[in-house]
Order: sequence, then C-alpha cells, then structure tokens
Amino acid sequence: MKKVILDVDTGIDDALGIVLAVKSGRLDIQAITTVCGNVSLEQATLNTCKIMDLLNRPDIPVYQGADAPLVRNHYDEKRVHGEDGMGGALKNQAPRIAPSAGFAPDIMINLAKCHPGELTLICTGPLTNLAHALLKCPELPRFVKEVIFMGGVIHGPGNVTPVAEYNMYADPEAARIVFHAGFGRLVQVGLDVTRKALLTAEHVAKLADPQLQTFVAESTADYTKRYEARYGVRACALHDPLAVGVAIDSGLVQTSSLYVDIETSSRLCDGQTVGDVQNRLGHAPNMAVCEEVDSTAFLDLFVREVGKTAMS
Ligand code: BDR
Ligand code: CA
Repeated sequence: MKKVILDVDTGIDDALGIVLAVKSGRLDIQAITTVCGNVSLEQATLNTCKIMDLLNRPDIPVYQGADAPLVRNHYDEKRVHGEDGMGGALKNQAPRIAPSAGFAPDIMINLAKCHPGELTLICTGPLTNLAHALLKCPELPRFVKEVIFMGGVIHGPGNVTPVAEYNMYADPEAARIVFHAGFGRLVQVGLDVTRKALLTAEHVAKLADPQLQTFVAESTADYTKRYEARYGVRACALHDPLAVGVAIDSGLVQTSSLYVDIETSSRLCDGQTVGDVQNRLGHAPNMAVCEEVDSTAFLDLFVREVGKTAMS
C-alpha cells in the first residue's frame, strides 16, 4: 500500500479529503501534517483532530507545521470555509485527539528518509511546510516517491484573483521552491480538473454511513450556496478530495508533462501558475499537469468509500 503524508489546511474540502483517504483503506497514512491556510494553523489542527476523532483513528499522528507563509502575511479563506473552516460542522465537539510533538517539515524529512523512494506527499494547502522541508533538506526529492498537490490552474481563471488559485496565492514563494526542487514526480491537481469534481445533494443522499452523511451535508451546506452563487450550479467542488483520489487511482486523470512556474512579483498576477504549453522557454517539464478527469468515476469512488459502513 502507498505510504502517504497528508499535508492539510483543514478546510471543508481538506476534511473531506482526509475522510476519503482514511475510509478508503487504500493508503498507508503515516502522518497528517497541518499548515496555516484556509484558517489559522491552530484552527486547521483543531479541525483535523476533530475529523480524526470522528473517524475514530487516534493511531494516525497529527503534527503541526508552519503558522505563516514563508514571507507574506497570512491570507485566509474564511469567506469560503466559514469562520471555523468547516462551515460550522462539528462546532461543539471537543476532540479526544491532540496533535503529537514535532514540526511538520521535520516529520516530512524523517519519514522520507525512513522510507526512501516510498513516500507520497499529498498536499492540499499552501506548500509552506514542504518548502520549509526543502530549505532544511535540499536533497529531499531523492527520498520522496511523488508529490501530489492541489493547487493552481493552467487553462482557466483563478478562484481568488482573476488568475490565481487559493493555495498558490496564499504562499507563491513556497510553491516556487517546490516547483524547482527536482522531484521525480510532481503532480498538479489544479482547478482545471477539480472544478469538474462536483458534489451534489444526490451524491450526499447516497452516503450509506449516517454519521459521515451528516458531516458531509452540514459542512458543505453553505459552501454549496456560495458555489452556486458564483457558478450557477447547485454543487460544490471537491478540490482536495480529488488530489487524494489521484493518489488512490492515478487512472482517474489524464496528465501532460509541462514546465510550470509561478508568478511572485506582480501586483495583478501573484500566484498565477504559468504552464509553458508551447515550450517557449525551452525548459524540461517539471510536473505532470492534470488536464482531464473522469468525474463520474471519481464521484463513484468518493460516495462508495466515504459512505462505507462496517457492514458494507
Ligand atoms: C483550495 O483552496 C482551499 O480553499 C481549498 O481547501 C482547496 O485546497 C481550492 O482552491
Ligand atoms: Ca485545502
């Protein structure tokens, strides 16, 4: 089974990604690491612990990482995820799980060195933790099997600015370090595909696990309203769960090898991921960009695994 670290800024869709990863039973989750992003580091960690409690998995350690982007001020995404980051779901739950001692970037380095060539990093928040790990240990890519990150967009508009996706916008300097670190396999799961992974009320109704069905319904209620207000469809995008889905089954997406860089010094375009689709710069590709997704197959996987009960 694939050994993975989930690096999250929990967030509604991060929470759903964690649920998918854990309930699928198809990933060997070595650790969950948290980072400041959608909400503060403290809130992202609390939300992660609540999810692990809901899933009754105190055996998977949660470690805290960076409490701020590398050089910028924190830009949160509460307008999308709500004040608490989970749309009010599990609001009154005090988790019985606490984070473990250790700094997330160090945990990434240690686990990669313990399992050379075996570890997949699934990053669904700003790439700050991984950038810190690379600054401490530039040879890290030699030890890591692959990095799958949710972030950016190559062919369409952004979701924070006209051109920038949130995870890239929140810490573009960190993303740049990751893009140029020399990972053997770096997979971008961007808005090009995640905007096609849409969860509807029909999917939620099919979730057979009542506890998880309640959580998904509650956490996505306002998120869906906001998505509908902007895009005109009554649904919400499963950005982060799709990155987890790609880790479980890479056949869900079609990719192209591209050289991608990120803008860090423009008033209008900071955080834009620029794919050199015509190889104008003459650089070798540095990542596999997801271009197409079999959204029906992904939603089937999501509904089946998240809805799974002990009986099914
Ligand atoms: C990404 O931004 C965050 O708000 C979500 O959790 C997701 O990781 C989507 O652009
Ligand atoms: Ca996220």
